[in-house]
Amino acid sequence: MVKIVAVLYTAGKYGEAQPRLLGTVENKLGLADWAKQNGHELIVTADKDSPDSEFRQHVKDAEIVITTPFHPAYLTKEVLESAKNLKCCITAGVGSDHVDLDVANQKKIAVYEVTGSNVVSVAEHVVMTILVLVRNFVPANQQYLAGDWNVAEVARESYDLEGKVVGTLGSGRIGSRVLQRLKPFDCAKLTYYDYQRNEQLEKDTGAVRVEDLKEFLSELDVLTINAPLYEGTKGLINAEKIGWMKKGAWIVNTARGAIVNAKDVKEALASGHLRGYGGDVTDQQPPPKDHPFYTMKANHNGIEYTHGSGGNAMTPHISGTSIDAQVRYANGVKEILENYFSGKAQTPANIIVENGDYATKAYGQRK
Ligand code: NAI
Repeated sequence: MVKIVAVLYTAGKYGEAQPRLLGTVENKLGLADWAKQNGHELIVTADKDSPDSEFRQHVKDAEIVITTPFHPAYLTKEVLESAKNLKCCITAGVGSDHVDLDVANQKKIAVYEVTGSNVVSVAEHVVMTILVLVRNFVPANQQYLAGDWNVAEVARESYDLEGKVVGTLGSGRIGSRVLQRLKPFDCAKLTYYDYQRNEQLEKDTGAVRVEDLKEFLSELDVLTINAPLYEGTKGLINAEKIGWMKKGAWIVNTARGAIVNAKDVKEALASGHLRGYGGDVTDQQPPPKDHPFYTMKANHNGIEYTHGSGGNAMTPHISGTSIDAQVRYANGVKEILENYFSGKAQTPANIIVENGDYATKAYGQRK
C-alpha cells in the first residue's frame, strides 16, 4: 500500500452539482475508486498553508504528492526535507513552480505534470482577456448590469485589435497557440521573445522572433506572458520593463503572478502608462485581501467610470481549469500513476525533473 496525498480546492455544492469538476476535494480527480481497487491510501485535502495543516502533516510519510497550480501546496525546501518517503510529485495541470525543483533534484524526487492538458484552455482565456481589455468590455458590462446606457463613457477607451502589435513572452505550447488564434485578427505584427526559437510558429503565423527584451517590449501594444516561473522570470516585468513599453499598452498574464511586480503594475495603471492589465494569476493564491490587483484600475484620461472601473480584467485562477481541461488533467494524473506503479517510462513531455536532473528545457537555459 502506497500513501498518496492530493491537495485540491474545496468545491462544496458546486462539486456535487458538477461531477466533472474533478480537480476538487469532493471529486478527487476521479481517483477514489482507483485507489481503493489498487489498495492505496489516498488522502485528499484543501488544508495546505499552516505548518500544522493536513498537507504538512501527511506529506511527512507520503510517497506520492499530487498538487494543482489552482490551489498550490508549496513544496518548499523545508517541506521536501520533511518528506522522508517522497518519491514523486505530480502536478494536476501545467506549471510546477510551486515545487522547489532544485531541491527535488538533490533528493532525486521526480516531478511530473500533465503537459499540454490545458494549453488550449489558457490560450482561449488569453485571447478573451486581450479582447476584453482592448474593447473595454468590463466597464461596459458593469454599466449595463447597473441599468445604465452611456456609449461615450466606454467608447472613449475602446479600440480594435486589428492593426496592433501583439507579442508573447514565451512561445511554447500556450504562447504559440495564442498567436495562432490571433492570426485572423490582422494584427500589425505578431512577435515573440524566447531563448528557444519556434520555427513552426514563424511559419504558421508569420510571427517574428525578437531577441532583445527591450526591443521586444518597446514595440508592443499588447504583451501576453506565457513562460514558466523560475529564477529567470521572477519579477521580470517590473517598473523598469513596463517603462520600456509604449504608453497605453495592455498586459495579459496567465502564466504566474510572480513574473510581474504587482505593485509596479498597479502604479503603471494609475499613472496611465498601462491602459489595462488582466489575467488569472497572482503571486500568492488566494491573494491576501489587500493585494494590489483587487483595487487596481486604469487611469483613462483621469475620468472615473460611473460603474466599476476600467483596465482591470483579473479573474481567479480559472483559465486552465475549464471542465474540458479538468477531464484531461485528471486522466493524465491517472496515467502518470499507472506508469509509476507498473514501472513504465513516463511520457517524455510530462517529465519536469527525474533522476536528479531537469528533463525540460522550459525552466531556463541550464547546462
Ligand atoms: P511550455 O514549456 O510549452 O512553454 C514555455 C516557454 O517559455 C518555453 O518555450 C520556454 O523556452 C519559454 N521561456 C522560459 N523562460 C523564458 C524567458 N525568461 N523568456 C522568454 N521565454 C522563456 O509551457 P506552456 O505549456 O506554454 O505553459 C507556460 C506556463 O503557463 C506554465 O509554465 C504555467 O506557469 C502557465 N500555465 C498557466 C495556467 C493557468 O491556468 N493560468 C495553465 C497552464 C499553464
